[in-house]
Amino acid sequence: MQLAAMQQALIDREAKALTRSTRALGAVSGRLLHVNGRQYLNFSGNDYLGLASEPKVQQALCDAVSQYGVGSTGSPLVTGFHAAHQALSAELCDWLGVERVLLFSSGFAANQSMLECLASADDQLLLDKLCHASLISAAQQHPSQVKQPLRRFAHNELASLEKLLQKTASASHQLVVTEGVFSMDGDSPDLPAMLRLCQQHQAALLLDDAHGIGVLGPEGRGTAAAQGIACSEVFCTMANFGKALGASGAFLAANSTVIEYLEQFAKHYIYSTALPPALCAAVHCAIRLVRTEQWRRDQLQDNIRLFRQLAAEAGLPLLQAEEATSSWLDSSQHSAIQLLLLGEASRALALSQALQQQGIWLTAIRPPTVPPNSARLRITLSASHQPDDIWFLINTLRQYF
Ligand SMILES: Cc1ncc(COP(=O)(O)O)c(C=O)c1O
Repeated sequence: MQLAAMQQALIDREAKALTRSTRALGAVSGRLLHVNGRQYLNFSGNDYLGLASEPKVQQALCDAVSQYGVGSTGSPLVTGFHAAHQALSAELCDWLGVERVLLFSSGFAANQSMLECLASADDQLLLDKLCHASLISAAQQHPSQVKQPLRRFAHNELASLEKLLQKTASASHQLVVTEGVFSMDGDSPDLPAMLRLCQQHQAALLLDDAHGIGVLGPEGRGTAAAQGIACSEVFCTMANFGKALGASGAFLAANSTVIEYLEQFAKHYIYSTALPPALCAAVHCAIRLVRTEQWRRDQLQDNIRLFRQLAAEAGLPLLQAEEATSSWLDSSQHSAIQLLLLGEASRALALSQALQQQGIWLTAIRPPTVPPNSARLRITLSASHQPDDIWFLINTLRQYF
């Protein structure tokens, strides 16, 4: 690409109020963050259970740095796979009841590998319309695009998926890709019904549960478990450590054959430095807490309920109706992702800036992350929030609607 074209693209983006920029943050927790010496209430993070700043997890990280050093020193198949990776993998298998897992340095990389490796050039990829960018870009770059262009079904709509499964039945194999909790909408598909549909068509179900793991289901085993499905019934599950587990990195979970295949053929696994072992030790500690400390999920659900009740009383335009968020989950479980739909990007940006002035950190989510004219405030609740924080948020938001 020519420099002039890059400059033009930047100017166009700015003109549409779509430019994004980073801010250097000081200390961050599920509840608070600091920027330039000022403290803000944090309603934009993904630290749903408050584990990023949990002292036991921090201690596990420090202890493991003393034992293993800072980095893994290599890719997993060379010098990068340590006892900490092995222990974390075993814990994940025990937690989720799966035969094997494979660790990746990010959810993005894991999703890329999942699609790249598990679909062949003759296969048909079928993605939910609102799937994460990591899944869409993997599908768009897949060799199957030559013969079987990617098809996308209407968001969470089984009838639309069924039509596409019927239309593309001549493909050698069909792979259906969806998310447990959609990152920018906070809603969930009906996974048992989707799994049945996949089984009827001998299609494989691939699930990205970045926002369900830790938060939903017994012991926080995720969205499938919350809907009564064993993780082993899903062909392959991706979940990452950067949300409820408070760290970073990710894993793919599946049966032994699938994971062994990925271990031999996934480029993002083979040709990339393995996760730092100390980080694996911290994630391992976080998973133990997720499994045993149900109070964190209870606290989170209390906070979500309070937010939804106050938002409804204030007449705020929440994106999901009560039924939509909870229909496939039991009524005690809601997604920690709540949306205020604003439409125009400039309106979302202005509101985000106004909230910042009042001490609330709430990033505006704008296209291309979400479809045109559906800019929104993505409000994430954490177990670390206190009821007063939520009251303050609602009372502040109320001034703008
Ligand atoms: C649904 C979903 N999948 C995948 C990813 C990518 O995960 P990671 O941040 O670990 O690369 C994210 C997070 O940004 C996500 O929200």
